[in-house]
Amino acid sequence: MSGYPMTSTAEQVDRLAAWEDREAVLHKVVPYVGLGVGALLTTAAPAPVGLSLVPDLLVAAAAACWIAWFVNLHPEWVTRRALMAVYYVGLLAFGAVLVLDSPWYGFFAWAGFVHAVLLPGNWRFAGVAASAVLAGTAQGGGVPSSLSHGVLWLVLVAFNLGVAGAVTWFSTINDRQHANRKRLVEELAEANRRLAETMRENEGLHAQLLAQAREAGVTDERQRMAREIHDTLAQGLTGIITQLEAAGQARDRRSDWQRHVDNAIALARESLTEARRSVRAVRPEALESVRLPDAIAELTRRWSTINEVRAEVSVTGDARPLHPEVEVTLLRAAQEALTNVGRHAKASRVGLTLSYMEDVVTLDVRDDGVGFDVTGRPAVPGSDGGYGLTAMRQRVAGVGGELAVESEPGGGTAVSASVPALSGGAC
Ligand SMILES: Nc1ncnc2c1ncn2[C@@H]1O[C@H](COP(=O)(O)OP(=O)(O)O)[C@@H](O)[C@H]1O
Ligand SMILES: [Mg+2]
Repeated sequence: MSGYPMTSTAEQVDRLAAWEDREAVLHKVVPYVGLGVGALLTTAAPAPVGLSLVPDLLVAAAAACWIAWFVNLHPEWVTRRALMAVYYVGLLAFGAVLVLDSPWYGFFAWAGFVHAVLLPGNWRFAGVAASAVLAGTAQGGGVPSSLSHGVLWLVLVAFNLGVAGAVTWFSTINDRQHANRKRLVEELAEANRRLAETMRENEGLHAQLLAQAREAGVTDERQRMAREIHDTLAQGLTGIITQLEAAGQARDRRSDWQRHVDNAIALARESLTEARRSVRAVRPEALESVRLPDAIAELTRRWSTINEVRAEVSVTGDARPLHPEVEVTLLRAAQEALTNVGRHAKASRVGLTLSYMEDVVTLDVRDDGVGFDVTGRPAVPGSDGGYGLTAMRQRVAGVGGELAVESEPGGGTAVSASVPALSGGAC
């Protein structure tokens, strides 16, 4: 959290609170200091008239108790304005008794200036005026007894009123600004708190997004593995089983039996090689050294020999190297389409056409076999196979292409993969 401006806001809140504490100490200490100094000087040099020492000190002690009860022992009363007015009137009364008793208590009259802020609104100026009268009287040595003393008294009261009134006026404005500043700082702290909360929420969302992205990655990889297993191991095993079944049926004819067994062994070797390559994410061996049209022609020739079905390959357009991923997609599509013909079609002829156009390259595989109901196929592959066309569609879509399958029972099948003609190493 140290990176956010929160710290500085918290510091400001602390600083304002410390300032308020200091001010509160002033309020709680000044009256006692004035009272103490007044009592001390009165004891040392008593006024010619007035109370004798013991009652004087008793009044001073009562004044101290009055202040202690309202200010020090019940600090929470500071917000109760009416109660504070009662307190202030009491304070003035004690001040008046003490000042009239001994002018030395003029020091105590200062408490009236300091505590005037406890009064509501403009009443604090009335408090200041009353305190100025007390202070002026004390400074003049008591209640005026002659005209000249009266004039002096007026000057003293006016001076006290002017100075204390101005100070109170400025401190009132200062208080207002202080309250505003405090409110702003608190608002800022609240905004910072919300910002921090939002950041925390964002971090949560970010983690959630990462988890989702990871899950999506896992799903992608699982699909890729499923396709690879289907296109290498499952296809290979299908071919091997077909060859071994044929060998079983040709047990009496030694040469046919040998041919089927050899085919099965060759298929097993190829499948193993392909499976190893796909584990290492290397492109198929068929595309390693030859170009796509030749790889498809070779694949078809071998398929035709093994399955004993006539098959032709034709290439149109400008046969050029394509991006490896696109070539693998088309080769796998040809493989799966031919495997399907061998497994399901009972066809007598198959034709493959590879067409290089300007923007797209298409591979069509047509057979004249039994066909099937394209619309009746389940959308989700079943456990007994049925993943080949799905895998083919995923692969083709993965490079930005489309797959179309046309077929009807008795009408043969046409599989057409159309992919963007991305040139070799283009992405
Ligand atoms: N050339 C075809 N001729 C006849 N039926 C086909 C052909 N291609 C596919 N099919 C039908 O479509 C189904 C789904 O094919 P596919 O997704 O490759 O799964 P699988 O070959 O494992 O059964 C096949 O089971 C088959 O019924
Ligand atoms: Mg299949």
